[in-house]
Amino acid sequence: MIDVELGDLGLDEGGHLLIKRALASNASVRVVGSAITLAIDLPAWCRATGHAFADGGIITRGPHDRWRGAERAGTVDVAVDHAPARWGLAARGALVEAGAPELDLPLAAKADVWADEAARLYAQAAAAQWDPATAIPWDAPADHPIEVEDAIVQIMTYLIENETAALLVPARFLGRLHPHFREVMQLLAIQAADEARHIEVFTRRARMRRTELGLSTAGGQASLATLFDEPEFAIASFLLSVLGEGSFLSLLWFIRDHAPDPCTRELARLAAQDEARHVAFGLAHLGRHVAEDPTLRGRLAAAIERRHAALAHTSGLNAEVFDALVLLAAGSWEPAALRTGHAAVVALAGEMDTGRRTRLLRLGFDPGAAAALSALHTRNFM
Ligand SMILES: [Fe+2]
Ligand SMILES: [Fe+2]
Repeated sequence: MIDVELGDLGLDEGGHLLIKRALASNASVRVVGSAITLAIDLPAWCRATGHAFADGGIITRGPHDRWRGAERAGTVDVAVDHAPARWGLAARGALVEAGAPELDLPLAAKADVWADEAARLYAQAAAAQWDPATAIPWDAPADHPIEVEDAIVQIMTYLIENETAALLVPARFLGRLHPHFREVMQLLAIQAADEARHIEVFTRRARMRRTELGLSTAGGQASLATLFDEPEFAIASFLLSVLGEGSFLSLLWFIRDHAPDPCTRELARLAAQDEARHVAFGLAHLGRHVAEDPTLRGRLAAAIERRHAALAHTSGLNAEVFDALVLLAAGSWEPAALRTGHAAVVALAGEMDTGRRTRLLRLGFDPGAAAALSALHTRNFM
């Protein structure tokens, strides 16, 4: 038993801190003080905190201590294999009081979501955020033909639509992810911010010399709808990040290399830099996932086939986008230039295919399966 000297400090002025501190290391304490309301406040505080109060200001640490039955939400540095719903939104490593509400967080298995690379990729993403207002030379001179500008507007219109899917698909899973997997949550959040920025710069570029945007096709939207409707994180991430954003990397490099003006070149370069991280995370967590779950590879292959069948009746890539890419690479309406531009777009499709096959090999598909599955990927690219 020790004495806690409060002097004239009331419990409503912070006096309870001294009592709590003393009770942390003593089973019972005697509280001494001259505050007028102490005789009323002390028993009330004991009732509220589950400690026993006796005459003479004696407080005994109660059996009903609210932290009895509390549980650590793992350790701050290491994610557990299965995060219980009862940990809710608590910080990883926090002491969680029993009886906290359970939230609906179905993505709670480490095998389904985790990548050891997530923390590094998040740090990289945080350091690489760029300001659309200053990172892109919006005022740089552009003297390309007006038809090439129309092609750029069509390409930007198409990119915005696809970036919107790339934002919303991971964002939907983000809301279902157990926050115990903090690094993955942070990475998906910053990925959504990347896509928001891409939408912004592509929109601004489209409107630079034109007031209206280009075309959006039913086939393109049907392709994106199959991503939007995919309920399983692994499959959505595979179709979107590994195959779609992987193909978009080639497309953005193509736009960078053939851009007629510094502004288009720079925004394609910066967006590609971000996309490379999105692809890297997809590959990292799926690589880990297929190693832990041997059935996943077959389900991923089936998902490509299912999506191909679902989209077989659609035209796939907007023909206007294809033509716009040809014109972008041609740079003019000269027949010889158009031939070169057309060949460049055919080569782009080949590069996308090579990239997809390389990524499928990294996920453990054999070369024959990788080639066959890459060929079934949506003609819409994303
Ligand atoms: Fe993007
Ligand atoms: Fe992306």
